[in-house]
Amino acid sequence: MGSKTLKYLPLALLLGFNINPVSAEQAEKSTVEKIVDVQHDLFKGPREGLRSNHTKGVVLTGVFHPAESARQITSAAHLQQQSSPIVVRFSNATGFPEIADNDPKGLAKGMAMRIDLGDEEYTDMVLSSVPRFPVATPEAFLEMLTAVRDSATSEAETKPIQQFLADNPKAKHFVEYPKPFPASFANLSYHGINAFKFTNSDGESVYGRYIVTPLDGVKTLEKADAEAQNENYLMNEIRERLPEQAAEFRLSVQIAEPGDEVNDATVIWPDDRQVVELGTIVIEAPMADAAEYEKATMFNPLALPEGIEPSSDPILLARPGAYALSFQHRMD
Ligand code: HEM
Repeated sequence: MGSKTLKYLPLALLLGFNINPVSAEQAEKSTVEKIVDVQHDLFKGPREGLRSNHTKGVVLTGVFHPAESARQITSAAHLQQQSSPIVVRFSNATGFPEIADNDPKGLAKGMAMRIDLGDEEYTDMVLSSVPRFPVATPEAFLEMLTAVRDSATSEAETKPIQQFLADNPKAKHFVEYPKPFPASFANLSYHGINAFKFTNSDGESVYGRYIVTPLDGVKTLEKADAEAQNENYLMNEIRERLPEQAAEFRLSVQIAEPGDEVNDATVIWPDDRQVVELGTIVIEAPMADAAEYEKATMFNPLALPEGIEPSSDPILLARPGAYALSFQHRMD
């Protein structure tokens, strides 16, 4: 589980640093460092005090109430009986801090959630409104982002990103995957994408992926209606509706069956897989010191309590290193 210092993995490993002594000349940047560099190229970052990606966001507080059924799959303490305080950050994609909420480039939307476990311990979930990732490895992600960057200045008839998508049909499928404009952050579903291993008190384990669904239903806007909204319509709506109208979600886990690919974030599992409810997320209020909290907090999908472990998905394992680099840049 997490704490104020990153405890789950040593920082050097998170960052993918070579821990053997090497000279400055020999030291090659890791794939994760290169990804974050390209994200900075794409989004004109890094920016002091701000995230490298999913930069524009809104921070809210609330409570998580676990469901009885959670115990079927995990012994994790926050999923047994007691409710826990939570912080939720909804965000637009990209590293542009001023991106309009109705800009198509800002879809997919993000949801990060920290569950307070007491004694300064926490566990995090970092989710997306799109249920799958474009590529299966950090190396392919680097290749894709580099192709996007280089396409802006390329004079080739077939731009690098067009070539990448032609060579990688799964990435093309991601680009074409429907990403509707939400009516509200409270009317969108969010997905963990990467699988985790859940173990119950009898020692039985399953692999699963988080799904967060709005109790008020998914509500989307037609393109013309979205275009008529103001540039902060999502950030403002969620802040202004609270506390009178709480934003409520069901947190569940979709369980893999034998043979389902648990280490490939490009693969969506079939709809008929069992879904186990973990509990209810109730978002109650805007956070008072949101800007300071946002700057000082790094959500970490590998901050996990006993009863939940990472899968071996290389995308999942690369994420904390990227988030730590982004954190370092904004604290510099
Ligand atoms: C190798 C793959 C990935 C890389 C390199 C990457 C990179 C980043 C970086 C650098 C940040 C800024 C983090 C911070 O400063 O706190 C970020 C934030 C975020 N990422 Fe990723 N990401 C990856 C995969 C994913 C996946 C699979 C998801 C969804 C399941 C995701 C969802 C998010 C969200 C929601 C945020 C905003 C978190 C917040 O509100 O603090 N990312 N990502």
